[in-house]
Amino acid sequence: MFTKKHIISTRDFSKAELDFILNRAEELESYAIRGAGQESELLKGKILANLFYEPSTRTRLSFEVAMKRLGGKVVNLSSPEASSAAKGENLVDTIKVVSGYCDIIALRHPKEGASRMAASFSSVPIINAGDGAGQHPTQTLLDLYTIRKENLLDELKIALIGDLRYSRTVHSLAYALSLYGAKLFFVSPDALRMPDEIKMDLKGAGAEIFESTKITEFINEVNVLYVTRIQRERFPDPAEYNKVAGTYRITTELIAENEDVVIMHPLPKLDEINADVDQTKNARYFRQAFYGTPVRMAVLSLLLKS
Ligand code: NCD
Repeated sequence: MFTKKHIISTRDFSKAELDFILNRAEELESYAIRGAGQESELLKGKILANLFYEPSTRTRLSFEVAMKRLGGKVVNLSSPEASSAAKGENLVDTIKVVSGYCDIIALRHPKEGASRMAASFSSVPIINAGDGAGQHPTQTLLDLYTIRKENLLDELKIALIGDLRYSRTVHSLAYALSLYGAKLFFVSPDALRMPDEIKMDLKGAGAEIFESTKITEFINEVNVLYVTRIQRERFPDPAEYNKVAGTYRITTELIAENEDVVIMHPLPKLDEINADVDQTKNARYFRQAFYGTPVRMAVLSLLLKS
C-alpha cells in the first residue's frame, strides 16, 4: 500500500516504501522503451503541471515522457521569466492557482524547502523535482533503481564524489542509502564537504561513513562511484567556485585500479569525468538517466492512485 500524498524528501520514506516504488517502476519499465509496442492508458484524463523555476533537461523531459507514455497530458512552466513569477507573484499564489488546473505538480525551485511549503498549500500532489541544495527525491529513486539493476543495493559500498556541500542529489541519496546499510565514502575538496548536520543524521541512522579529499584512497574499497558536478549556481562568491573548479576528475587510469567499478552521475557532467570514460563498460550514467522515465511513471501512478 502506498499512502504518501506528496514526494518531498527521501527522509519521509521507509525502505519498504522505497522498494515498493522501485517494484512499480520495474512493472512499468516496458512502457518506457521506445518501439516496444506497449501502450498504456493508465493516466488517461490526468494532467501534470511541470513548474520549473531552475534549468532542467532530464528531470522535466522524463516527467513529461512518463506522463505521456502512460496516456496523460502535460502543461509546462519552463521559464520563470515567461510566467507571472516575473511580475512578482509569490509561489503560494501560483501553487493555489495551478493546483486548480491540474492533477499533480512537479516543482523545481531554487529555495530549499519550497516543495514542502508548496505541499501545504496545494490541493493536488506535489513532487519535489529539486529544491535548492536540499533534496531531489525522484533522482534518488532512479539512482536506487540503477544500483538495484546492478544487484548491488544490498552490499553497496559507494563513493559520493565532488560537490557534497551543495548537490541535492547526494543529500537525498545518502539518506536513502542509510536505510539499505550502505557503506558511504565521501570524497570532496575540503570546501565542499558533506554538511555536518547531514553526517550526524546519517550516523544516527547507523550509517558507516568514511571521508577523504582523494578518491585514490577508496578506489579499491567501493563498487560504485557516484560523481557530481560542482554546483556553480549555489556559490555565494564566484571566486570560491573558481578555487575548486576542476579539482577532481575520473579518468580511465583511475578506473583501471578497480575494473568492475560502476560509474554513476546524475548529469549534467562538465569536466569531472574524462570523455573517454563514456566508452568504458563501467559508465552507467546514460542508462541511469533513461531510468528516470520508469521511475517517474511509478511515482506519478502511485500518487494519482492509478
Ligand atoms: C541534478 C540536479 O538538478 O540537482 N540534475 C538532475 O536532475 N539530473 C544534478 C545537477 O544539476 O548537477
